[in-house]
Amino acid sequence: MNFNVRVLSSARYADRVATVLKERTDEPGLRLCLPTGSTPKPVYAMYAGNGGDLSQTTVFLLDEFGLPPGGPARCDAMLNADLLAKLAAPPARLETWDTETPDLTAECRRMEQAITDGGLDLALLGIGMNGHIGMNEPGSAVDSRSRVVDLHPATVEGAARYGADDEPAWGVTLGLGTLLESRSIWLLVTGLPKAEILAKALKGPETPQVPASYLRRHSSVTVWADEEAASLL
Ligand code: PGA
Repeated sequence: MNFNVRVLSSARYADRVATVLKERTDEPGLRLCLPTGSTPKPVYAMYAGNGGDLSQTTVFLLDEFGLPPGGPARCDAMLNADLLAKLAAPPARLETWDTETPDLTAECRRMEQAITDGGLDLALLGIGMNGHIGMNEPGSAVDSRSRVVDLHPATVEGAARYGADDEPAWGVTLGLGTLLESRSIWLLVTGLPKAEILAKALKGPETPQVPASYLRRHSSVTVWADEEAASLL
């Protein structure tokens, strides 16, 4: 198993991850996938507060809800509010998802192509309570590419927590296969409610029912966990 598990106290978590992220984004030309939601939020706040700079970085948004543009639960809105709006300069390049297009399949192909033209140097990921990464829900194939997906009820609940007015039924996401081609991966996991699914992902069987368990096939994964999330490891 190639997991490098870094366990940090809750007090040090955001600062430590943000510091190491800043070291990575100081490399010119970094190609970076970023997630949104509650887990990365404190890391992004710390990153921006400590002078983080994406002006030499290409940023790809991990996934997006099928929700109307402009709402607070949209991943592009969260990325903007939690990170981009707090930075002195915009990213060198930002790739987000157009979910309003009549041809979503073509939009997913466009994103996939934008990624594969140069690959990803680093993919930051969260884990859902159901073991999803991005919106690769239980049942996703390990070689899946960027695509439109039906959302699991736990993910729809997540959108409600983020302030969605409507329940999204679908989303678009980078595929498991797409993400597993990233040169390195960081899995960000915090809080006691995530302890059980993290233990399943790292120590249980490798199975499509826990998409995060497939990260074990990758040669360079760092799991950044706080003590609560790591309590069952
Ligand atoms: P959360 O979402 O950080 O809001 O818990 C994680 C995820 O669903 O991937």
